[in-house]
Amino acid sequence: MPRIFSGIQPSGELHIGNYLGAVKNWVQIQSLHESFFCIVDLHAITVPYEPAVLRERTQAMALTLFAAGLDPARTSVFVQSAVREHTELQWIFNSVTPLGELERQTQFKEKAARQEQVMAGILNYPVLQAADILLYRADVVPVGEDQVQHLELSRVVARNWNARFGANFFPEPKPLLTPTRRIMGLDGQAKMSKSLGNTIGLMETPEQTWAKLRPAVTDPARVKKTDPGNPDVCNIFQLHKAFSPEATVAEVDRQCRSAGWGCIDCKKVLHANMTAELAPIQARAQEMSAKPEGLRDALGDGAAKARTAAAETMRQVRDAMGFA
Ligand code: TRP
Repeated sequence: MPRIFSGIQPSGELHIGNYLGAVKNWVQIQSLHESFFCIVDLHAITVPYEPAVLRERTQAMALTLFAAGLDPARTSVFVQSAVREHTELQWIFNSVTPLGELERQTQFKEKAARQEQVMAGILNYPVLQAADILLYRADVVPVGEDQVQHLELSRVVARNWNARFGANFFPEPKPLLTPTRRIMGLDGQAKMSKSLGNTIGLMETPEQTWAKLRPAVTDPARVKKTDPGNPDVCNIFQLHKAFSPEATVAEVDRQCRSAGWGCIDCKKVLHANMTAELAPIQARAQEMSAKPEGLRDALGDGAAKARTAAAETMRQVRDAMGFA
């Protein structure tokens, strides 16, 4: 059975863009493969941060992942820093990673430009990511567009290590691009992102969600309710595609083009479908926060399974490389 691995930063509260772009897809594919999903707290320290906040966000992310439907009986969900082999393999991979490949990474250049003093961690970030994936000898990595270059680097690392120490030991991991295209924010202007304030949080109440949906940008050419609209340029239509059944999506298309429904009518239908999907997730999150030991145990089980797989890879790596 092919293995899948993916990672997510513990970045505070998840919004529907993160959910649709990654987590929902993970839930759908978790039982098709042997899967490992990792909360990458070691990656999170490459930018300035507060230890207490990191710890809190890691726990919150774990709770959200289980609430969204990752099933600890079928998959390993764990925290990266709980499995020491990630950092061991990262050091080893530094010795087969060309510096030029790291300096060329778009995300490195962008992050470096934003920092006053550039720490080596942001340069080596993709080496740790390669270690995450290859530690489990994963074949498939579900990610968004923005991670394709990092994945390419993982392939270089695998190829170089294999060429030097053991042909075909590490598979070259392939990205599995999330079917949902990137989700735009409620302003319809830019990708949904917490820093832009154009998000809907996964844990927001129906009232809060409606307060944000109601004024959200639609087809700008549709000024009056009697103007026919173009769903292809409407962000609300994109959200319908993510949350509404196919028949409803077709109906929205018709009613928009014929000016049968106004934008508020259309948003009400979206709101109902969004609420129907989020309500059970929120209910599970509520339940789980009432018993923290359940979360601790689930993460513990995930880490134990991850450690078993990681230890086996490292035994072979250490042997091939001449360590005592
Ligand atoms: N860099 C990824 C992101 O920012 C997170 C990540 C870390 C990851 N390690 C990974 C993703 C391994 C996939 C596989 O989204």
